Amino acid sequence: MKNLYQEAKNCFLTSDPDEKLALSLDIASAWDSGLLEWQDGDPLLQEPPLQLNQPGRLNKPVLVEVNQVKNRGFKSIQQRASLIHSLAHIELTAVNLSWDSVYRYRHLPKEYYDDWVQTAREETQHFYLLRQSLRDMGYDYGDFPAHNELWQMAVTTADDLMARMAIVHRVLEARALDVVPFSVEKFRDIGDRQTADSLVIIANDEVGHVNSGTRWFRYRCEQEQVDPDKMFFTLMQKYLKSTPKGPFNREARMKAGFSLAEMQELERLDAQYKQEKKHKKNH
Ligand SMILES: [Fe+2]
Ligand SMILES: [Fe+2]
Repeated sequence: MKNLYQEAKNCFLTSDPDEKLALSLDIASAWDSGLLEWQDGDPLLQEPPLQLNQPGRLNKPVLVEVNQVKNRGFKSIQQRASLIHSLAHIELTAVNLSWDSVYRYRHLPKEYYDDWVQTAREETQHFYLLRQSLRDMGYDYGDFPAHNELWQMAVTTADDLMARMAIVHRVLEARALDVVPFSVEKFRDIGDRQTADSLVIIANDEVGHVNSGTRWFRYRCEQEQVDPDKMFFTLMQKYLKSTPKGPFNREARMKAGFSLAEMQELERLDAQYKQEKKHKKNH
């Protein structure tokens, strides 16, 4: 019988996106059919997982710093393709991230693995959808430079499941809940219904991914007997030295498990930030 961790590791290390994505869907189906071993007693479970900090990738796209990814927008086809390319890169990173979360963290309930296998499957589908839009625009994945902010944060938080869930899923991935609906409208206005429809699917699925982040963040908080609402802000200070900026999609964030107290605190900090910025501008 094949082993879930071994399969997750193989997918993570596969360089060619087509092979990686085909494998990703195969592992997800095998997991759903109960064909993968994962519980205690497996020799792989006795050994700590290797620290795999670099997913397999081809030499394209070229990776650059986040502020060097330019010219994304809605005006020209090239700008739109550049925007979709950066989203496609995030989706592929999210495939790696999901399999890394399966491989790296052990001794968790079966539901934990169910959640991240399901996320891996959906991120794979998201990549396919966006790559189709890119191809329809006359481009392909690898044609633009990409930044690696999401993956770098995944590595920074890798030693701590609680931080990984809080920062990677509840801050970085949660950003999609606020901004993707805006892009859906833009693509609709332009008349690119296919991309708009793909982004609607993505926006809905991302609520589930952030919700999984919330679930396992709270699970760890409960184990360590800390207050999750406070811990979320403590971790943002530690890893980001800042908090996300609004406007927030409160409805989607609440569906993704944010508490009312968290939303109110995020909104308060955002209002405070904007007030300070205005004050500085006037002086
Ligand atoms: Fe996604
Ligand atoms: Fe996601």
